[in-house]
Amino acid sequence: MSVHKSSPKVTIRQLMQMKTDGEKIAVLTAYDVSFATVLDEAGVDIVLVGDSLGMVMQGLDNTLPVSMDDMVYHSRCVANGLKRALLMVDMPFMSHISPEIALQNAGRLMKESGAQMVKLEGGSEQRDVVQALTSNGIPVCAHLGLQPQRVHKLGGYRVQGREEDVAERMHSEACVLEQAGADALLLECVPAALAAQITAAVSIPVIGIGAGSETDGQVLVLQDILGITPGRAPKFSQNFMQDAGSIQQAVQNYVSAIKNKTFPDKDHSFS
Ligand code: KIV
Repeated sequence: MSVHKSSPKVTIRQLMQMKTDGEKIAVLTAYDVSFATVLDEAGVDIVLVGDSLGMVMQGLDNTLPVSMDDMVYHSRCVANGLKRALLMVDMPFMSHISPEIALQNAGRLMKESGAQMVKLEGGSEQRDVVQALTSNGIPVCAHLGLQPQRVHKLGGYRVQGREEDVAERMHSEACVLEQAGADALLLECVPAALAAQITAAVSIPVIGIGAGSETDGQVLVLQDILGITPGRAPKFSQNFMQDAGSIQQAVQNYVSAIKNKTFPDKDHSFS
């Protein structure tokens, strides 16, 4: 399956429609124009320039040192390769600590790098930031569950929401962020049942990573699906390169597996 070059651009309205229609949304990270082109032609719906670039592009231990300039640079490279996919870009650590700072930084991503949506980690304390951005025309994807920018506070990369009180808080934060204007929600490393509940409770599309099969879409890091993860690949990822003869085929197989609902299965999920 290769998407025709003249396919119209994916929009936020279309993502909403996909949720309504039950069509799964395929999301994958990219950090440069070559891979962005491959992903776009394979039918990836959203290309995410994640701050995971700190690890997979820069060889860092975590995402904290990633700067706004890094995000602008890589996003601009990726934007040059996209004809159809929507470009979502991460707000790096400390770039959205107040509505004013967030507006300046998200504005840069929209103006200088062609971002169509920004993603930011955080719960209900981000309500005013989300409101400020969305009311100024900047689409936002909120990010709940495991928030890698809080790795030191969390004491490691671990599943979030196993305890009842944490699960309840996550559920209510998802609703708060939706009410503040968030256009999408990403859930990372969340028990599948909780992710399914939150997906049903909100009307915005929910993208999961290590969050089971019931979310409206799935995202993985490109290096993980190509089997070139620096270090150990996470349990929730799958190497799509193993059975593919080319990178193009691996990405197409990833998209098909999401659309056909064969990925993720129980082995990639947390109970
Ligand atoms: O930074 C990133 O690539 C991400 C994904 C892992 C969801 O946030």
